[in-house]
Amino acid sequence: MTDTPINDSKTNAAKTSDANIDVPRITVRPNGSLRIDGEIPLFDHEGNALEIPTGKPYALCRCGASSRKPFCDGSHKTIEFDSTIGPIDP
Ligand code: FES
Repeated sequence: MTDTPINDSKTNAAKTSDANIDVPRITVRPNGSLRIDGEIPLFDHEGNALEIPTGKPYALCRCGASSRKPFCDGSHKTIEFDSTIGPIDP
């Protein structure tokens, strides 16, 4: 995975405090994928288990452009995916 490192100070604080804890986690990457660390089971919409890499992190697409859904293939960079959340109308 080649996503941009997370620079948000609030996120870094949480990351630093948990850095030595070996627990599964999901990290929302800015303008990119969801990084999965640890062996969190993954299922399709029918409840079928999907094969995930063992012993290494992997990334799930959240931009919708990947040709390997649900996994990230780096296409978010090509489409310049912007994950900025704007104002929400009431
Ligand atoms: S988030 Fe990477 S291809 Fe969609």
